[in-house]
Amino acid sequence: MSKTDWIEQELNTLKEQGLFANIRTIESPMDAWVTIEGRRVLNFCANNYLGLANHPQLRNAAKSAIDTMGIGPGAVRTIAGTMSLHIQLEKRLAEFKGVEAVITLQSGFTANLATIPALVGKDDIIFSDELNHASIIDGARLSGAKIVRFPHADPAGLRKIIAETEVPHRALIITDGVFSMDGDIAPLPDLYEVADETGHLLMVDDAHGEGVLGKGGRGIVDHFNLHGKVDVEVGTMSKAFGVVGGIVAGKQVIIDWLRQRGRPFLFSSAMTVPDVAACLAGVDMLEASAELVERLWKNAELFKAEMKKMGFNTGVTQTPIVPVMLGEAPLAQQFSRRLFEEGVFAMAIGFPTVAKGKARIRVMNTAAHSQDDLERGLAAFEKVGKELGVIA
Ligand SMILES: Cc1ncc(COP(=O)(O)O)c(C=O)c1O
Repeated sequence: MSKTDWIEQELNTLKEQGLFANIRTIESPMDAWVTIEGRRVLNFCANNYLGLANHPQLRNAAKSAIDTMGIGPGAVRTIAGTMSLHIQLEKRLAEFKGVEAVITLQSGFTANLATIPALVGKDDIIFSDELNHASIIDGARLSGAKIVRFPHADPAGLRKIIAETEVPHRALIITDGVFSMDGDIAPLPDLYEVADETGHLLMVDDAHGEGVLGKGGRGIVDHFNLHGKVDVEVGTMSKAFGVVGGIVAGKQVIIDWLRQRGRPFLFSSAMTVPDVAACLAGVDMLEASAELVERLWKNAELFKAEMKKMGFNTGVTQTPIVPVMLGEAPLAQQFSRRLFEEGVFAMAIGFPTVAKGKARIRVMNTAAHSQDDLERGLAAFEKVGKELGVIA
């Protein structure tokens, strides 16, 4: 018996239950089409909403920044100094989003780990939407605050729970902006009203709204015209921006505090030079034109409408995320396998990522898809859907 036998047993259990994550290897740049096992397949999996992950303007920006500024930041910013490029990106993002200040982190995940424990601690309470992302859950746990879940996207439910909860010190209300598995948008104006009435801090994680919602992709706060009202907006540059890196946007005082107390900022090195330069090029592109954001939405609306016409259940989505609801996990897995044989890469998502009996294929629409791509994708869904008895 070795010390790691239990891990082998756990891995075998995952395989037996069909829950082992088999990760596809992509042999090409991330784009509307990718190469997997030597085959070109239509890609409906990536959060590359605007098609920037392989955009020449971002690639060139990354290459020339390497020539002038090198690659790595050397150490954490409080120790080795902060590069002018990082400051430039933070200023540009703050202007773009219409907030007082921005701090960048290594990822959206670490942005949540930095922000939540800096705002609340063991004497405090977090009111968290029951479907919030794992990184919010982990950030909340790290903070040591008491976590009280409120019913999904339900401001009245939140108000009731707050009324029933004693808040001895501070409280923070947290919601995802766009819920990544269903594509629905948080009722932020109503949540803001609750936060305003109760005097609690309000934080939104806009990972799937950054570059997608709002004027030219300025995010959920812009979408609802709540500028200056939401205390903290967390975001990511790994999705619509096509690169990697976390964003925290909000009042200057909160950002100043995160530079002193955000642990992933203080104890982990910053984004690399090519990442930052590519993100700056992304901001340039979004400030110059809303064309990509408009194309993304046009593609998404077309795809959703055609899927519904064929008889598929696309759930409650309000965004380019399209869950194709299938029910049981084995059906979703079989559907995904058949789509792949038809040249379409679209992943099945089951328990524990979504509730039991709510397995689905999640289609991510992007601006990189052409009309022809969408038609091919829809034809594959129609063929497999009929074959497996999902649609008539
Ligand atoms: C709501 C939400 N927050 C945070 C993250 C993490 O972002 P990143 O990939 O930049 O770490 C994700 C990504 O899946 C997300 O959906």
